[in-house]
Amino acid sequence: MRMYVLLIPVGMLLMLVSACTAQQPPSAPQKEAAPAGAQVQGDLRQVMRGILYPSSNVIFAVQDKNPAEIKPAADPTTATDPLASTYGGWTAVENAGIALAEAANLLILPGRKCSNGRAVPLQNADWPTLVQGLRDAGMKAYKAAQAKNQDNILDAAGDVTTACENCHSKYREKPGGEADRCM
Ligand code: HEC
Repeated sequence: MRMYVLLIPVGMLLMLVSACTAQQPPSAPQKEAAPAGAQVQGDLRQVMRGILYPSSNVIFAVQDKNPAEIKPAADPTTATDPLASTYGGWTAVENAGIALAEAANLLILPGRKCSNGRAVPLQNADWPTLVQGLRDAGMKAYKAAQAKNQDNILDAAGDVTTACENCHSKYREKPGGEADRCM
């Protein structure tokens, strides 16, 4: 009777141990899943051309002009230049900063390819740091625009340029050309 009582806990312990081992294969790299509902539609180049390029141009454009002095378009509601639109002037600069910071999330979404078919190198150790550089630069521009501070915008525009270049020098400008991008 005493033996029987002892054996059950030992057996349960063994089952527990084997269950844990089965759930966590040691050192198997975890494949990241996209957050529920998130979808990837474009390649990395399309995200760059569609979101990062136009947004950063808004920030670069106000390096040498005061956003408050930019004249609204004749019909601001249909203006294609954000700075002259309904949400123009400093608001457009705020929005461009937010667009860059939020776009950082698109650069870490699993499942996106580069234009040459390679996977966006999410697993590379420096990728999250380079993406964070973009996020920080975007938020710096956002805060400078909120404060309507021209000096800080100049500083933030410099950070944006650096954030773009830090990543491009590693993952875009390749001696082997476009085929070697993203590796
Ligand atoms: C974390 C990395 C990273 C950051 C940050 C980044 N880029 Fe890129 N960018 C790339 C890569 C990689 C490519 C090549 C993508 C491809 O070919 O699919 C690229 C391509 C581009 C292209 C398209 C070039 C072409 O072939 O037509 C533009 C435009 C661009 N980036 C603009 C920007 C701007 C502006 C910023 C900063 C506001 C920026 N990027 C920040 C990695 C980055």
